[in-house]
Parts: sequence; C-alpha cells; structure tokens
Amino acid sequence: MVKPTLLDYLHQLRRKGVTHVEIDDQARAVLRELYTRGTALRTVAKTSATAESNRTAILATGSTPAEKIASLATIAETWQPARSLGSFRDTMVFSAGNPEADFMLVGEAPGYQEEQKKEPFVGPTGAKLDQILKAMGLSRDQAYISNVCKFRPATKNQTTNNRKPSHEEMATSLPFLKAEIDIVKPKVIVALGACTAQGLLGSEKTVGQLRESWHQFQGIPLRVTYHPSYLLRQEEGLGEKRKVWEDMLTIMEKLGLPISEKQRGFFKK
Ligand code: URA
Repeated sequence: MVKPTLLDYLHQLRRKGVTHVEIDDQARAVLRELYTRGTALRTVAKTSATAESNRTAILATGSTPAEKIASLATIAETWQPARSLGSFRDTMVFSAGNPEADFMLVGEAPGYQEEQKKEPFVGPTGAKLDQILKAMGLSRDQAYISNVCKFRPATKNQTTNNRKPSHEEMATSLPFLKAEIDIVKPKVIVALGACTAQGLLGSEKTVGQLRESWHQFQGIPLRVTYHPSYLLRQEEGLGEKRKVWEDMLTIMEKLGLPISEKQRGFFKK
C-alpha cells in the first residue's frame, strides 16, 4: 500500500478550498530538514550522473598507451565542462613523460612557464622535480608527469602570476586524470602538494597530515608529498627536503627500485 504523503494531504486540503495552513516552529524545522536532504540528494545524483557521462565521453581511442594519451589530449582541448567555466586560459598543457611508466607524478595545474612550453613542470619547479627524479635514479622518460587541470587557471590582468585551481576547476578536469591512470596503469602515484592531494582525495587535510601513509586513488597506491615549488621556497633548510626524500624512498621501495646506502643518507643533517 502506498502511504499518503504530506503533499497528498496538502493537495486534499486545497481541493477542499483551504489556501493556507498554519505551521509551528517544529513543523518548520522538519520541512527545512526534508528540503535540505532532498536538495543534497539531487546534487549527489546530478554530480554522479555528470561524472559517469564524463567518463563515458572521454574513452580514448588508439592501440598503444601513447596513442590513447594523445587521443585524450585531443578531447581535452574542447572539453566543455572545463571550458564552460570560463575561468581557465586557452592553451592546453596535457602531460609529459612515458605513458607506460610505473611511476606517475601529479601536480595541480600548469603555470606561466608550463603554458609557454606546453609541458607540465618546466622552469625552476620542473628543474626541482627533475632533481628529485635524478636522485631516485630516474629520468623524465621513466615517469609519467601530469596535472589535475589541463589549463592554467586565469586571473584578471594576468601576466606571469599563477593561482591555484578551485575545487570546481579540479572536479571538471579530474575525469581526464582518471582516464590517464586507466591507460598508464602506474604502480604508484604521487600527489604533489596540498591542493593536488585535496583534489584527488576529496580531503581538506594538509600535506603534513596526509604524508607518511599510503592512500588509494582509482585502486592505485598513492603517496602525498610537498610540492617542488614549496621546496624552492625552503632552500636554506634541509628539513623539508629530507621529508620529501623520505617519501621518495618509500615510493622507491614500493616500486622495487634499488636503493644505495648513499641514497638512504641524502639530506640527513
Ligand atoms: N605546478 C604544478 O602543479 N604543475 C605544473 O605543471 C607546474 C607547476
């Protein structure tokens, strides 16, 4: 039997010619709660539907991982959910490195230098990242390097200044990163910086709170560490460098990479 709802009851009253009902504070609170719950459910349903359609819409074509990544990049150029925000700049910066690598590094969004070269992590921040990879015994070609956002977040009268992407900008871009992960199938992902980690893990926590433990993203082990640009601002001390290096040693162990005694001692006081 279908239970009569509040709405049925109100319709019934209206049919009888009643145009107003009195409600007390308690009833008002119940209605407010029902309305809030209904709105939240509709938002979740809409977001899931959009995420699902995003995922379906960006199925890459091609037979090799490199071809599939190239096909994703073509789709990203005109990706309406991101483009229609109107808050990104025009030049796309997709990814760099090897689409068959075991190790994937993810940043938040390209900046001025990246936009100029159409490549993630170039300029001083990129040089710092290359140093970290070199210390691990890896080159850029032995890793896959990407960003959550594929366009540089815009600001008013923008020159060389960059800004962090918003939650919305990251959410509309995330389907691409997920599709990249499906193609590359890395053994380990590292999220660089708090903004990236928050975008991927849906968390508000800091790098200090998120590093030192394994997380999962798309079923892949994920580690969080400080962004290389943060290290550039900490040049004088060894403390933060050592923390990043400890994160990288943990990642190297997970990847089964050889680690020398010299490497174990890097950045120790
Ligand atoms: N910072 C990022 O997060 N990504 C880049 O590509 C460059 C700087």
